Amino acid sequence: MTSQTDHLNESAKVALALSDHERINFIRRPRWIGYTKAKEVIAQLENLLTYPKTHRMPNLLLVGETNNGKTMIVNRFHQFHPVTADPNTEQCQWPVLVVQAPPVPSEARFYIAILEKLSAPYCSCDSVYKKQFQVMKILGRVRVQIMIIDEIHQIVAGKIGAQRQFLNTIKYLGNELQIPIVGVGTYEAFNALQTDPQLANRFEPSVLPRWEQGQEYLRLLSSFERMMPLKQPSYLTEKDLAFKLLVMSEGTIGELSALLARAAIRAIEKRTETITPKLLDGMWWIRPSERKWKAEKNSQEK
Ligand SMILES: Nc1ncnc2c1ncn2[C@@H]1O[C@H](COP(=O)(O)OP(=O)(O)OP(=O)(O)O)[C@@H](O)[C@H]1O
Ligand SMILES: [Mg+2]
Repeated sequence: MTSQTDHLNESAKVALALSDHERINFIRRPRWIGYTKAKEVIAQLENLLTYPKTHRMPNLLLVGETNNGKTMIVNRFHQFHPVTADPNTEQCQWPVLVVQAPPVPSEARFYIAILEKLSAPYCSCDSVYKKQFQVMKILGRVRVQIMIIDEIHQIVAGKIGAQRQFLNTIKYLGNELQIPIVGVGTYEAFNALQTDPQLANRFEPSVLPRWEQGQEYLRLLSSFERMMPLKQPSYLTEKDLAFKLLVMSEGTIGELSALLARAAIRAIEKRTETITPKLLDGMWWIRPSERKWKAEKNSQEK
């Protein structure tokens, strides 16, 4: 015998008992789905973390469209390796350092970002050499094993000379500390790295592609459905509905997640308790490429 909650996972089943308002809040909460590529990337990061020190450490460049789950993967990996403090020495150990690339390729700003991340006191008026010295010392002391630089495509916001210098800084940090460096960003990051042959062959690219029709996509839809506490099944993996969701989201996990959350909330508010093509048609949803196009058109009209 099947129960009426068989379409849900355990926590969504429990959430069914909540008020509508609380269920909506539940749907808005962040979710983690361990899809195959995400697990593969996490395994790659684990492998780098324990890589023995050599003069030529392997690096990784995680590239993908915006809103396609890069930062979520990094955060997930980071959660497995939190900062710890040695109770005897009170010395922190910081195995995974995640830092955002500065909005422009500035060496000084990058060092400041690292120092701020480590909550280390610094003087912004110090020379770039002094900041570099301080960064190297602290990173060694807290025993960083891997450095992840998110939003690394930001370096293309600068002139070629500044980009080169920034890339050299990354190379220097990796070589001196003998730690793997992981760059995370959009395809622009990949192009920027190609400008330096030495870096290009040291950073193995790992691509998070857009979602396409196939078994993996259907598994993703199924996972989303199991996490949304709706009283009726939606059968998201049914052919036409699955295709419609792919077209509306244009194949990024962030758009798909936002679309499904919005649809599930609408299903609760309308008391239909299921996501159907009709419900999706009645939603105010502009596809990401149209949004971009409209924003560009508006800025041209101004
Ligand atoms: N593994 C996952 N499980 C469930 N939802 C996810 C997952 N990964 C990403 N998402 C959804 O996609 C959204 C965007 O993810 P994320 O911020 O990691 O994208 P990104 O690739 O880093 O984008 P950007 O390049 O703009 O920084 C998340 O807020 C979340 O809603
Ligand atoms: Mg991101």
